[in-house]
Amino acid sequence: MSRLVIVSNRVAIPTRRGGAEGGLATGLLEALRPHGGLWFGWNGRLAEVIPAAPALETGGDIVFALTPLTRREFEGYYVGFANRCLWPVFHAQLHLMHYDATALGIYLEVSRRWAETLIPLLHPEDVIWVHDYHLIPLGRALREKGVRAPIGFFLHTPFLGVDLLRALPGQTHLIEKLLAYDLIGFQTPLDCQSFYRALGFFLPEAHREPGGIRYAGRLTRVESFPIGINVEEVAHLARSGRNNRHGRRLETSLTGRRLILGIDRLDYSKGLANRFRAYEQLLERWPEFQRRVVLLQIAPLSRTEVPEYDEIRRELNTIVGDIHARYAEYDWLPLRYMTRGFPRSTILGFLRQAEVGFITPLRDGMNLVAKEYVASQDPEAPGVLVLSSLSGAAQELEEALIVNPYDTEQMAAALAQALGMGLEERRARFQAMMERLGRQDIHRWIASFRDALAATTHAVSGD
Ligand code: G6P
Repeated sequence: MSRLVIVSNRVAIPTRRGGAEGGLATGLLEALRPHGGLWFGWNGRLAEVIPAAPALETGGDIVFALTPLTRREFEGYYVGFANRCLWPVFHAQLHLMHYDATALGIYLEVSRRWAETLIPLLHPEDVIWVHDYHLIPLGRALREKGVRAPIGFFLHTPFLGVDLLRALPGQTHLIEKLLAYDLIGFQTPLDCQSFYRALGFFLPEAHREPGGIRYAGRLTRVESFPIGINVEEVAHLARSGRNNRHGRRLETSLTGRRLILGIDRLDYSKGLANRFRAYEQLLERWPEFQRRVVLLQIAPLSRTEVPEYDEIRRELNTIVGDIHARYAEYDWLPLRYMTRGFPRSTILGFLRQAEVGFITPLRDGMNLVAKEYVASQDPEAPGVLVLSSLSGAAQELEEALIVNPYDTEQMAAALAQALGMGLEERRARFQAMMERLGRQDIHRWIASFRDALAATTHAVSGD
């Protein structure tokens, strides 16, 4: 089997523990574990001078090749273009988009630099798998420097409609750069459809053929690969986490009150303000739940250098304060809101303890916490998932209570429905979702992307 080379901005080194890495890092570690490989990316630090060769670290059969960013790169590439421009556009938050031509220039430069740094580490039989919106131009940069290996790209965020992309300066060049890849993977069929529509609009000279898209003498395959989870591992960790020190402390602290739980990076795309408002409406419209429920929201701080994340943090502090002022009792706090992270098994143990998983992003490529909530449940007495219709996961987890994350009344009603749902219905919904999670798990995600990428080598030979 050829060696897998993964390139992503964020690298999850197992020995370092972070609180807010998100699903990408966890999924990629699974991709490399069985056969090993190379994982190239940012070491999470800034340096004044970039060493010519990346630092190598080894963990089992995986070699991590890590490079720092300069402050200029960090501000232009990571903060500026990737997270203040592409991220809000890809999550339909145009009012939060900040475009800056210098930042775009640095974003393109980082891909060129990374291509140069990666090439000396490549072996002739490698297949290269590039991840996420930070690195769209990397495939083209590698090709321009003579790399002929199969190169695939997977977008973890949503790919949205033409109307949003029209507002993104330079969108045609970015889309064109995507066509330097042999395979482009999206989370869901809807994202693929949006991509095809965007091609028709911005790059009509790209031809759709049965095997993919023909453009500039190259054929690019486009498919959806919904990312999954390691179902058995999640179930196992959730069982042990349920009874660890934190799991027991949470249980004791609830004094029999029913737990509703949300877990998200602190990001405006996660819909936390609407979620809190919806919970407030539950308490208002169904006063019988007052004193009987607790919403625990764990939202580890994320991207604190990006000003919009500071704004959402302040907004949430105000909303939480409002809810407490209105409903708290001297012996009951309706909403527990924390911005620190916990080890994975503790989080999964908390999920197992929650009667309701409340996951309502305004947009999300997939949302693996939703899947983890289901997989961490006790099959004998599973809880209920209330899930945003605008997450990729909703396209698979149809038996969740699917809600519009902008409709706080509907979300409040779904919470009431979840809290009132009988055991039989909960089990039936849980089983249906578990079957699907088992079929579309993380191993299937990796294998199907790898196979599809390997199959493209025939298509590109001769280019
Ligand atoms: C999302 C993105 C990932 C990113 C993660 C955490 O899941 O799709 O690419 O790594 O958020 O964000 P951060 O900016 O801390 O890497």
